[in-house]
Parts: sequence; C-alpha cells; structure tokens
Amino acid sequence: MKIFKTQRALKLYLKPYLGKAVVGFVPTMGALHDGHLSLIRKSKENSEVTVCSIFINPTQFNNSSDFKNYPVDHSNDISLLESVGCDILFLPDDTHEVYQNEKRKVVDIGNLANVLEGEHRPGHFEGVLRVVKLLFEIIEPTKAFFGLKDYQQYLVIKKMVAVLNMDIEIVGCEIVREENGLAMSSRNKRLSELELENALVLKEALNHSKAHFGKMNLKELEQECFKILKSRSNPEYFNICNASTLESIDDESISKEIRAFVASSIGEVRLIDNMEIL
Ligand code: PAJ
Repeated sequence: MKIFKTQRALKLYLKPYLGKAVVGFVPTMGALHDGHLSLIRKSKENSEVTVCSIFINPTQFNNSSDFKNYPVDHSNDISLLESVGCDILFLPDDTHEVYQNEKRKVVDIGNLANVLEGEHRPGHFEGVLRVVKLLFEIIEPTKAFFGLKDYQQYLVIKKMVAVLNMDIEIVGCEIVREENGLAMSSRNKRLSELELENALVLKEALNHSKAHFGKMNLKELEQECFKILKSRSNPEYFNICNASTLESIDDESISKEIRAFVASSIGEVRLIDNMEIL
C-alpha cells in the first residue's frame, strides 16, 4: 500500500488515473475495525483503485474532550488496510495539510442537517461537509463509500454532492455489528467491559421499535424505547423518521421507507445507531 502524507504528492500520484480508472474512496478517522474494512472491500469490488484516508477532523467535533480522546492507532490501521488490499492511504500529519487550500463556501443542504445529530451536535455536519468536500477535491474519486451506521451523514453527503453538482457516486454500505448486535464503532474502544454490556441497550431499543411498529401509537412506542435506553444509558433521542427526509412521522403520515434513530451515552462515550423499520 502506498502512503501519502501530503495532498500534493497524492494528487501527483493519482493524476494518471483520473478519468481513466474507477477510483473508489473511503474517508475515515482511523481506529479502524471491521465496519471500516467492509467499506474498503466494497470499494475494491466496485473500483479499480481504492484510496482510504485517515484524518481526525477537528471541525466536526462539538465536544473537545471527544476530539482529544479519539483513539489513534496508525500502525494497526496500516496493517488492517494492507490485509484487505487497500491500494493507497492518505494520512495527513495535521489540519493545515487538509485545510490549506480551502475556499470556504457554505453548502445549503436544507433541513437534513438540522434534525437528529444536527440538532444535538451543533456544527457537526458543517465540519463533516467541509472536510469531505476538501477530500473529494483532493482525490477526485469516481465513487465514495459511506457506512449506514452514520445514516444521516450518508444522506447529508449525498445531498451535498447533488447541490454542488459533483460527479461522484455515493454508495451506502450496510452496518457491521459485533456478534451480540452492538454496531462497531471506534468509540467502543473507550468502553469498559460493563459499559460494553450496557451499550447493547441501543440495539435492544431499536429491536423493540421494529417488533412493535404498527401495533401501537408511534409516539408511545418512541417513549417506550426511550425508557428502555434510560434503564442502562443516558439517552438523547429515539426517533422514528422518514428514511429520505428524516422528518418525524406520526400515525397519519406513515411513509414507504422508515428508519429508527438513536443517540445515547454510556458513561463518557456517546454512541449512535439506527435500523430499517420499513
Ligand atoms: P469514521 O467514524 O471513522 O467512519 C468512517 C466510515 O466508516 C463512515 O462512512 C462510517 O459510517 C463507516 N462506519 C463506521 N462504523 C461502521 C459500521 N459499524 N458499519 C459500517 N460502516 C461503518 O464518519 C467518519 O469517520 C467521518 O465523519 C468522516 C466521513 C471520515 C469525515 O471526517
């Protein structure tokens, strides 16, 4: 695997491929696990060259201790990427390396960024869009692969690409879970054994919403799920939404595609998860 620390060197290396080969791109913040590797595998199946980036983007953290405590393990990340045959890794040393040429332009993606994570983590999606736009400009991928674990992020990026008319296909990839159902996340590395058990409550609440959907009043179902979460975590929201617009639904406005979304903290660690309901 080729590793590039500067965007200049990476761009130079990628130049011969542009417009001639299908370049697949998987942006990450590192501390890689099987969820990330599933995206690399998907990219390898669907592209000729696969580029991964590892960059902990400060502008998307609304909580400085979350940023400071974000796990870093470059040597393990590099071995994992090599084990799945990733071709290129962009591993910038600092924020300047990524942001140096930024021509900041606010992208209006409408209401998608104002609900769920947007409401509870002010400025988060603005930071995600800033860095993903810069990475797209550096790498100029044909396709980019995002996990449905961060379903709202996937929708927000799809919308940005449409608004900016970028010629990049955004591919959503299924959530990878531990055997016990816990969605894989770099933040799980910060949980103790007991906290890892308590983290299962997110999946339990999602399962409960799916099992009881359509059999009871929706608002009451959301409240029940919130109560389940509260028994073993510190929940922020449990919402059942239209899967395209992320608008809340009620019994009168059932849409064709519905997903349930949850955010809850286990001790200091904030986790999110979601599940297809319909
Ligand atoms: P990060 O949290 O490292 O995730 C990188 C990619 O891996 C995202 O597309 C995320 O949805 C996906 N992913 C994480 N856990 C997953 C799982 N259990 N199953 C499937 N996919 C999973 O998301 C980010 O980084 C950043 O916001 C980023 C897009 C890199 C911008 O900084």
